[in-house]
Amino acid sequence: MDKLIIDGGNPLRGSVQISGAKNAALPILVATLLAPGEHELHNVPELVDVSFMLSLLGRIGCPSLVGDGKGPECVRLDTSRVAFSEAPYDVVRKMRASVLVLGPLLARCGRAQVSMPGGCAIGTRPIDQHLKGLEALGCTFELDGGYIRGKVDQLVGAEINLDMPTVTGTENILMAAVLAEGESVIRNAAAEPEIVDLVRFLRSMGARIRGEGTSTLEIDGVPALRPARRPYSILADRIEAGTYLLGAAITGGDVMAKGAPAEEMSAVLEALEATGCEVEVTDEGVRVSRSGPLRPVSIETTPHPGFPTDMQAQWMALMTQADGTSEVLETIFENRFMHAAELIRMGAKIQIAGNQAMVEGGDLKGATVMATDLRASASLVLAGLVAEGRTEMLRLYHLDRGYSHLVDKLKTLGAEVARVPDDVRVTTGKAPAATAAV
Ligand code: EPU
Repeated sequence: MDKLIIDGGNPLRGSVQISGAKNAALPILVATLLAPGEHELHNVPELVDVSFMLSLLGRIGCPSLVGDGKGPECVRLDTSRVAFSEAPYDVVRKMRASVLVLGPLLARCGRAQVSMPGGCAIGTRPIDQHLKGLEALGCTFELDGGYIRGKVDQLVGAEINLDMPTVTGTENILMAAVLAEGESVIRNAAAEPEIVDLVRFLRSMGARIRGEGTSTLEIDGVPALRPARRPYSILADRIEAGTYLLGAAITGGDVMAKGAPAEEMSAVLEALEATGCEVEVTDEGVRVSRSGPLRPVSIETTPHPGFPTDMQAQWMALMTQADGTSEVLETIFENRFMHAAELIRMGAKIQIAGNQAMVEGGDLKGATVMATDLRASASLVLAGLVAEGRTEMLRLYHLDRGYSHLVDKLKTLGAEVARVPDDVRVTTGKAPAATAAV
């Protein structure tokens, strides 16, 4: 296993290319199951989660080719045949998003067997809403030996009222509804930009959907879908972009996130402006710089277009450098403050009460810290960039799931950062050269 070594104190400066969005790429890869044939996707981020999903699709019987002379972010998939309709435990336990195959497999094969995902570092994360929606469309389920077995003779359109706007739940139900007989309506649907991207992709394959980006999705089922006529390019990652922009803010630097989807990032950009940072949106992307002190700004995570839970941990790191106290309220997941304990080990003054964290600005000192999940890891990287001295972050594999070429990108921006095997002890001098690109 690798660890990350960061020598703090360098302001991030320069521009960084933002990759395709992980949370758009995963459902879109799965959605190719709905249209038998050959698919070509562009701007697919080079991430471990994408590799997991491609290997799951491979086990189902759909081979893929990454690159093929068109760059590493081009993926070709052949979904002509589906040999198995199962997502086994050893895949689902590594990546919860594997549950997204449920809707498409039921629509394509009339049956699906998916290992029941367990809880994870950020919460219990049940999938009752996914099942409720699919049941409304005519599916039946049984739980057996840790597996959900679903079947359906004919998907039939229905009205579905979700108890909460679940992102992958909306995606799963939507991917089944596009091939149901008749009309479906999903109310209290998630409106995240990644769902809008999925709708655009489904539409490019012939699906009939209205209302994306709002809380009501209306779907007219069609008998069959066919692969898109042109390669489909995945939306840029607003969370990756936000993380680098917070990197500029926390280090007092100046970063242009090239290709950042500014319109989808308004809550984060407004909060950054409120801290006193300069925020500039151009045709090229979004630029953030800071020269003065950082004002404390409280945030509350809410579904899109509110402040995203996937930026909460990074915001908490930023607020450790503010001139005063701010509040961070997490309303989406019940256990998404694991990074706070690690930030405290670096000297942060954070008090947690339930889903509320009070963060008081002060100096951070480098320490050895443990990453617990993807965004917690990003928060510790930001803290390491501004801390005095050296930070060593263990369990780097979480970052590989969601940040493509992180070490290279940070180095381009002037950070002293390196990736080394866990058992290497670096005692003096600057961080060693990186051993591998992510
Ligand atoms: N929930 C239920 N029942 C359900 C579904 C969800 O109670 O059937 C609850 C969850 O436990 C949670 C809330 O509803 O408290 C919202 O969860 P949601 O289902 O929206 O999350 P998700 O679909 O599992 C996606 C992203 C997450 C992101 C959340 C919220 C993907 C692959 N994952 O998860 O991304 O945090 O939406 O925006 O799209 C990440 O990228 O680091 C990440 C965790």
